[in-house]
Amino acid sequence: MHLSDLMPETLRQLLASESAVTSITARGWVRTRRDSKACSFLEITDGSCFKGLQVVVDAALPCAELMPRILTGASIEVDGDLVASPAAGQKWELQAREVRLLGEADATYPLQKKGHTPEFLRTISHLRPRTNLFGNVFRVRSRMSFAIHRFFQEQGFFHVHTPVITSSDCEGAGELFRVTTLKQGSNAKPEEDFFGRPTYLTVSGQLQGETFACALGNIYTFGPTFRAENSNTARHAAEFWMIEPEMAFYDLAADMTLAEANVRYLVKAMLEECPEELEFFNKFVDKDLTARLQHTLTKPFERISYTEAVDLLLKSGRSFEHPVVWGEGLQTEHERYIAEEHVKGPVTIYNYPKAIKPFYMRQNDDGKTVAAMDLLVPGIGEIIGGSQREERLDVLRAAMEHHGLSEADYQWYVDLRRYGSVPHAGYGMGFERLLMFVTGVSNIRDVIPFARTPGHAPY
Ligand code: 4AD
Ligand code: MG
Repeated sequence: MHLSDLMPETLRQLLASESAVTSITARGWVRTRRDSKACSFLEITDGSCFKGLQVVVDAALPCAELMPRILTGASIEVDGDLVASPAAGQKWELQAREVRLLGEADATYPLQKKGHTPEFLRTISHLRPRTNLFGNVFRVRSRMSFAIHRFFQEQGFFHVHTPVITSSDCEGAGELFRVTTLKQGSNAKPEEDFFGRPTYLTVSGQLQGETFACALGNIYTFGPTFRAENSNTARHAAEFWMIEPEMAFYDLAADMTLAEANVRYLVKAMLEECPEELEFFNKFVDKDLTARLQHTLTKPFERISYTEAVDLLLKSGRSFEHPVVWGEGLQTEHERYIAEEHVKGPVTIYNYPKAIKPFYMRQNDDGKTVAAMDLLVPGIGEIIGGSQREERLDVLRAAMEHHGLSEADYQWYVDLRRYGSVPHAGYGMGFERLLMFVTGVSNIRDVIPFARTPGHAPY
């Protein structure tokens, strides 16, 4: 048996046909049914593409008797001929010879009509991929995922699978989900737990990624990460996917250059590889999307140091909800002002105050800042955060002590500085933030199949 027999032609393939074809079989879910005296018109979709296929069922056919049972949401299989369609806006339609009802759907099917709000559709995450919006989002998610692998693989990067369960807190922010088999309320010691020590879901694969960069050179991870941060915003999820490249012999400038090229590559992939979805998003989600993405490709990304950023915010004449103070983190409102109003495009902010950043970032000679960078885009703010890593053994040790990290717990990490230490750098790109940027969808809950946010983890 050939693979092609296992996988019958999808509607995407049928709709792209160069010529009429006799005797084909199409399968899909019914979007709409319309009956006239002479025939019934069914629109079916199979998820392979945005467009549906119109099926015409002659009322004289024996299978026409099935029509009253074929309601929106039902699944059917149709044998017939692909013929030129007289209707506007579609090249082909399927003239049915035989229709088989695979699975009925009754009037309780929630997607009877278009126009449900994303908020309502979130409550039926198991059905929302069948809608236009979410079908488009998740087809784009798949293609972007592939484009990310392609970008790194084309440049000789190796994909490393870092652990999901870990005993280290990379970001030191204490936003860890505990992994334990101990019973709730038990007085057992951590040593009696499954791993013999406290373990957590990873917040980042970076530290383990560094060990592989210091062996294979250029590597990347692409996996789920977890943060128990109690922020109910449109840009934060408790479970999200992150792409984390780590490059031996890179400094901060090289890191920023790669991050910019990465974003540009993915924007180009969106424009070139997802034209149907882009057209939809531009029409129904964000009217400036295509223009903004094209602009991203043509305009060079800007770079501004943190100190310059603070200055320009202070001079902006704006009154922000959070005051602008050198030494404190930039808030979303600050980031968005810089990206949307000052630069009007993507911008990387670099050299942040040491005090607000994790222990692993490389200390700059000024003693006050570290070689960190955040790439911000209009509409979202930060989509990438990265840094050059501290490769000097003594400086790293001092930073660890300052952050209250025990060297015994991170001995393996310190070893990288003890044995053949090299300058290296990397970053993390939030996959959902990237998807929000390329689709214009403004809530992170709508670009991930099953969103996990505080108080919310059905499925
Ligand atoms: O800036 P972050 O915290 O950096 C790190 O975790 C580094 N260890 C990465 C590295 O250097 N290898 O997170 C990186 C990116 C952010 O820029 C953001 O896009 C995304 O991850 N991110 C989130 N996305 C959704 N929900 C959250 N709660 C997120 N937290 C971070
Ligand atoms: Mg960050």
